[in-house]
Amino acid sequence: MKNGKFITFEGTDGSGKTTQIKLLEEYLKNKGYEVVLSREPGGTKVSELIRDLILDPANTEIDPLTEMILYAASRAQHIAQIIKPSIEAGKIVICDRFVDSSYAYQGFGRGIDLRLIADVNRVAIDGISPDITFFLDIDPETAIKRRINATGADRIEQEKLDFHKRVYEGYKKMSLLFPDRIMTIDAEKPMDEISSQINEYIDTIL
Ligand SMILES: Nc1ncnc2c1ncn2[C@@H]1O[C@H](COP(=O)(O)OP(=O)(O)OP(=O)(O)O)[C@@H](O)[C@H]1O
Ligand SMILES: [Mg+2]
Repeated sequence: MKNGKFITFEGTDGSGKTTQIKLLEEYLKNKGYEVVLSREPGGTKVSELIRDLILDPANTEIDPLTEMILYAASRAQHIAQIIKPSIEAGKIVICDRFVDSSYAYQGFGRGIDLRLIADVNRVAIDGISPDITFFLDIDPETAIKRRINATGADRIEQEKLDFHKRVYEGYKKMSLLFPDRIMTIDAEKPMDEISSQINEYIDTIL
């Protein structure tokens, strides 16, 4: 019954996801498509509350397993309330992060078993999978430098650089495992070049 499209953006902190999502939204709206923008963890009132809980620097005692389940809970609400109904209504849903972020951050970053993440998320995502995922590939150190002082650090961003390097390597591995779904984009290029590359690809699937 699915007739819309589901596009996700992934990459380490500061890799340019939000920048590219805004450009893609503008491009698609100018072409007359109905576009729904969303982000994880968040996208609904309840999901945003869970996001605040996870990212609050006061909650440093959150256990990695608790964190992984909270992300999945936030995602379940997001799928039920926004993503699934929008796709079924024929809209184009663009999401800033999705399940790949759980594999990259909670799995490769924090060491939670990938099968466990898959099991918990299978329940959460209700059969929904992205049509295309853009992985913005940039050296994590360069990416973090780009966004320093931009928004102020939250709990995850205070983690050491080796955490971000593990996350980055995780994304690289997933892009090799799922080459049909995950498109790797050189995110060190200028914004407009990246945007043109993404638009060209999107034109081929719409
Ligand atoms: N291709 C680019 N070249 C140079 N700077 C860029 C590029 N794309 C984005 N930036 C800048 O890098 C910073 C981070 O970009 P952006 O917020 O889009 O990344 P993000 O992946 O959404 O980050 P976060 O993970 O924190 O949400 C911003 O200041 C943005 O203007
Ligand atoms: Mg962002």
